[in-house]
Amino acid sequence: MTEPLLTLSQVDVAAGERDIVRGIDLTVGVGETHILFGPNGSGKSTLLAAIMGLPPCRVTRGEIRFAGERIDSLPVAARARKGLGMAFQRPPALAGVTVGALGKALGADERLAREAEALDLAGFAARDVNVGFSGGEIKRWEILKLFLQHPRLCLFDEPESGVDLEHIAAVGAAMERLLARGGPNEERRSALVITHTGFILDYIEADMGHMLVDGRLVCSGEPRRLFEHIKRHGYTALPAAAAPLLSQTKG
Ligand SMILES: Nc1ncnc2c1ncn2[C@@H]1O[C@H](COP(=O)(O)OP(=O)(O)O)[C@@H](O)[C@H]1O
Ligand SMILES: [Mg+2]
Repeated sequence: MTEPLLTLSQVDVAAGERDIVRGIDLTVGVGETHILFGPNGSGKSTLLAAIMGLPPCRVTRGEIRFAGERIDSLPVAARARKGLGMAFQRPPALAGVTVGALGKALGADERLAREAEALDLAGFAARDVNVGFSGGEIKRWEILKLFLQHPRLCLFDEPESGVDLEHIAAVGAAMERLLARGGPNEERRSALVITHTGFILDYIEADMGHMLVDGRLVCSGEPRRLFEHIKRHGYTALPAAAAPLLSQTKG
């Protein structure tokens, strides 16, 4: 068996002075896409921030490994260089940094121009990153940015929230193209995706779903089935009888 790409072992995370996430065990294999469900405030963004190394979120117990190496005390830039990338829920605006300049610095090519077209972001080269972008444009740019960064592991924080219905298909299809290849040997990239709406499940190949409630992972299962359960019963842990069905992973 190949080594997993991302492993969290008994991870606790604090944001500032507050303990938010506790006792997380999570393994994402090479080429796997995992979905993270959970109510508002359950700690989903905090968990992603801790994996990426974004202050003020920090690991206070346990360890995070990426391709076998311990990363939980590395600064964000070092993690990005190792191949972690994130599409932010609410990214900052970068006044003075144009989309074109950032693209050039990161080696934008023809493929990027095609993806910009597909994401309805052609003609943005002269604009400052995220300055005056609409909510949907911000989210679409976050996906395009990942095409520039070539991460091995893509962390998506609610990629479809605030995106109008017309553009959701474009976002979903672009995410699937991003994930479908681009690993070191052109294999699938890995991903951890936060979603509330579940729309994204119609577009990307997802292997596993997890439910985070009050800072703890309460159950895991086949992502579409888990989403159906949440729609019907809310964020309640699965009854024991359903658990075996849901804990099966793709063979
Ligand atoms: N820097 C911080 N200091 C204190 N509390 C924080 C900080 N960042 C986030 N939180 C709190 O942590 C909880 C989880 O937030 P978050 O991870 O954003 O949840 P989710 O993404 O699941 O909606 C929330 O109650 C939020 O207010
Ligand atoms: Mg969040």
